Amino acid sequence: MAGSVSVKRAGEILVATLEHPPVNALSHAVRLGLMAALDAAAADPGVRALVLRGSGRNFSAGADVREFGRPFAAPELGEVIERTEAFDKPVVAALHGSALGGGLELALACHFRVALAGTRLGLPEVKLGIIPGGGGTQRLPRLVGARAALSVIAEARDLEPQEALRLGLLDRLVESDLEGAAVEFAQDIVRAGRAPRRTGSLDPPPAEENVFAEFARNVARRQRGFEAPQVAVQAVQLAYQVPFAQGLRRELEMCMKLLNGEQSRAQRHAFAVEREIAHVPGLAPDTPVRAIAAAAVIGAGVMGRGIALSLASAGLAVQLVARTAAAAHAAHAAIAKLCESQAARGGLSRAELERRLALISAVAELDPQRADLVVESISEDPQAKRTLFGQLGPTLKPQAILASNTSFLDLEVLARASGRPADVAGLHFFNPAHAMRLVEVVRTRETAPEVTATLLALARRLGKLPVLVGAREGFVANRMLSRRSREALFLLEEGALPEEVDAALTGFGFPAGPFAVQDLGGLDVVLATRRARFGSLSERERGADFLEQLTASGRLGQKSGSGWYRYDAERRAQPDPQVAALIERHSAERGRVRRAVPEAEILERCLYAMINEGARLIGEGVVPRPHEIDLIWLAGFGFPAYRGGPMYYADRVGLANVLGRLAHYRETVGAEFFTPAPLLEQLARAGRGFYDA
Ligand code: COA
Repeated sequence: MAGSVSVKRAGEILVATLEHPPVNALSHAVRLGLMAALDAAAADPGVRALVLRGSGRNFSAGADVREFGRPFAAPELGEVIERTEAFDKPVVAALHGSALGGGLELALACHFRVALAGTRLGLPEVKLGIIPGGGGTQRLPRLVGARAALSVIAEARDLEPQEALRLGLLDRLVESDLEGAAVEFAQDIVRAGRAPRRTGSLDPPPAEENVFAEFARNVARRQRGFEAPQVAVQAVQLAYQVPFAQGLRRELEMCMKLLNGEQSRAQRHAFAVEREIAHVPGLAPDTPVRAIAAAAVIGAGVMGRGIALSLASAGLAVQLVARTAAAAHAAHAAIAKLCESQAARGGLSRAELERRLALISAVAELDPQRADLVVESISEDPQAKRTLFGQLGPTLKPQAILASNTSFLDLEVLARASGRPADVAGLHFFNPAHAMRLVEVVRTRETAPEVTATLLALARRLGKLPVLVGAREGFVANRMLSRRSREALFLLEEGALPEEVDAALTGFGFPAGPFAVQDLGGLDVVLATRRARFGSLSERERGADFLEQLTASGRLGQKSGSGWYRYDAERRAQPDPQVAALIERHSAERGRVRRAVPEAEILERCLYAMINEGARLIGEGVVPRPHEIDLIWLAGFGFPAYRGGPMYYADRVGLANVLGRLAHYRETVGAEFFTPAPLLEQLARAGRGFYDA
């Protein structure tokens, strides 16, 4: 059989199997194979019906994203799908694992669908900045109605198999022996003499009034800045406005326009980077990992509690070590409350909640022999951390790993203090640790490869997205963030107000601006970090002491009702004239003549300061390539996916342009802050980008 589809006979039924590991993406070879299978079924009068299934873990994860960005070779997916629907012998899709994107579209064009319990059914194309292009927007509403179709297509929500059965997308849901069940179903169809039931010939069930306007509003709010979800709503609406064939044509046009646009290109980049990052340069994939069954978290503050919960969620026994028995007790109660709120929102069953809580023992004294991994999460006090690592080193089991959650302290110092530096690494979680996917795994020069491999594997086990970085001040996340924060403060000194800086960055696509984010985290917390880093700050940064001034007057952010902004009872932010006055006074005292700062300058200074630092991080070898940086910003700081990450964005702007602006700000703001990184300068001069270095 040509391509990657095999066929076999089961009596009068032809079973065609997609065989294209790892996910049966519908690549050119598979499309050819499907056509050949249809040819075979058409040519053989003994074949009365066709079953279409996938080998391995999935039915199909959809169109082959590696083929995007160049012309599709014939037959295109739409052609295969239309031929399947038009086929005059019944075609039954047998679904398991994932039936996503083009995979589900193919299934929608089959005449009947049988699925194994647990199958993921979804059209996640909007996550790649496109809409389905193989008829999904026209067929799905005909089967399940407008509301469900809009939610699946415009919001990328998977359909639960039970729900799909109830809505009529599935004809049968089975617990086991999918192939047997699908063949039996096909035999029943043949025996009953049922004709193919073509989704495209169905009338969509009546749509509720205003459902399209409602979804257009919702996606504009929840997926602000993204084009594809809006287009998705329009495409689904077409199923109600124009004949099916015309709907298919229009859908494909809309899909192709998005596919060739900047947003989709950036979102596909983000998708690829997330997969690429799993392959770590210089770390052999078969590096052995150590068994981690029991962990300990030292420090029961907000971070420590979140980390403990995250570890317990993955089934690890956790000792959560607080300073006193009373503090331990309080920490456990706080975790229980967190779980309760998750359960109340429907994200956690009662049994699972109990299981997690039972795995966490909050104590005042660590039992070092009961820990395969210790995560230190005490306050960012270098002396206290050094002492702790010195105490832990000799008492832990020989194979135990000692990780620190520090966000910027020198890990090499802690590693040396432990006396066992090969076992020491960083495991930097982001707040709230139980919910945020990003984890920086930090290796020092002495961290053993198997320790690195173990932490990467563990983070994945926790459902996290681990990114491996080197041990330099602030690693990647906080070092780049600190450059942006610096510029944000300087801009205030020069004439901008917090709401102007925030508006520039939210306009760019960040969910919140830097000042709103600080208010959320707590200005006292931000100030503590500033104090810990004070020694390494420049003269001008030390002088930009807004945080000291705000906290001194009790403005701690949202929790105290005011910070950079004033908050009402619903925690809605309002610009505060008192803050404006404080900033103006500050500028006057330093002899700075305030000016109107253009939005473009705010954006350039905040973003290019980060990007320049990113170039330094690559140049210094803290990360081996731009991928790590982009992913950290996408997953950790809400960098808009439709802009692909800071380093990708810089490439799109053009490094020569970025370099030109850096040179300008070196003159106007200062060489100390805006001297271009050697790597950036070198790439810009060579006409290259970070991704084609
Ligand atoms: N086209 C091409 N390759 C794909 C793919 C697709 N649609 N979906 C996944 N892959 C590749 C991945 O890049 C990865 O390759 P690698 O091992 O060389 O890095 C491999 O398949 C496994 O994917 P991964 O995501 O690591 O596996 P998983 O088991 O965790 O998840 C899926 C499987 C299908 C749930 C997940 O890959 C997914 O969501 N894929 C995208 C589905 C999608 O958006 N389809 C719409 C396309 S229009």
